[in-house]
Amino acid sequence: MLRFFDSLIREGKSLKELVGCEESQAVCIEFRKLGHEAYSCDIQDCSGGHPEWHLQMDVFDAIENRAYINNSGFYEFDDSKEWDLGIFHPVCRYLANSGVKELVRDGVKINPERWEKLKEAMNFFNKLKNCGIPKIALENPIPHIYARVGLDEENNHTYFGSTPGILGYNQIVQPWMFGHKEMKATCLWLNGLPKLIPTDVVGPPPKDKKERKKWAKVHRMPPGPERAKLRSKTYSGIAKAMAEQWGGSELKGRICTFKQTDNKINVNTQYELTLSI
Ligand SMILES: C[S@@+](CC[C@H](N)C(=O)[O-])C[C@H]1O[C@@H](n2cnc3c(N)ncnc32)[C@H](O)[C@@H]1O
Repeated sequence: MLRFFDSLIREGKSLKELVGCEESQAVCIEFRKLGHEAYSCDIQDCSGGHPEWHLQMDVFDAIENRAYINNSGFYEFDDSKEWDLGIFHPVCRYLANSGVKELVRDGVKINPERWEKLKEAMNFFNKLKNCGIPKIALENPIPHIYARVGLDEENNHTYFGSTPGILGYNQIVQPWMFGHKEMKATCLWLNGLPKLIPTDVVGPPPKDKKERKKWAKVHRMPPGPERAKLRSKTYSGIAKAMAEQWGGSELKGRICTFKQTDNKINVNTQYELTLSI
């Protein structure tokens, strides 16, 4: 708990913040609301309505070249403008537990091309994890065992193989901990950042099957060309919590105070986070 307070009370400074693999701009917008120099970055166009904050390029080009957008709206690169914080939402298709049936069926390995895609996805994820930005969060669904542990040349899962795994996450959050009556387990890999504290707990979802289904909106989206994009958008409540808890206190003279309404730190506990000047 002390560590959490510690991380909140610091001298005032606006962060240069990169939200990589983000077309929705959900997290970028929340950091901008708090006065930070935040950029979304995606190979796709942005859908959040702020192209003036969107670096449409490969995320590693943005990281390595310290990209930013100048006052005239042009991309610039400046080695002296270091990134302070990186939040990344890498493609989860090949890593997520929901896709393991595309790799193994009845104990037999299938789809060799899919195993190659998995290796690419693991390398991409680990390159982000080790990109050198001082504070990093990566977000993805629950990964399957092969993604976690790593692979050798024969695609056997092993901790000492040629393709290292993405290993364990630090935390699982759910949208229902941040004001949305929905279920979607989201794992966070954190480096230099505290775990997210639930801000508005409206769950857990009911046990009744019929009622529960209503909370599984993401899993029950109808097929269509936009399905993958819609399913992967970051929830606004989680985006807001990231900005307030990982960036809020960095602003000039602001102090964040955190109050619990009971003594336990528990996902079902109601928390109150106050920003004051
Ligand atoms: C799972 S989605 C994450 C969406 C995100 N949660 C949001 O709210 O926008 C992954 C995103 O990574 C982007 N992407 C894939 N490869 C990339 C790269 N090399 N550089 C930047 N973005 C990339 C995709 O275009 C896609 O929008």
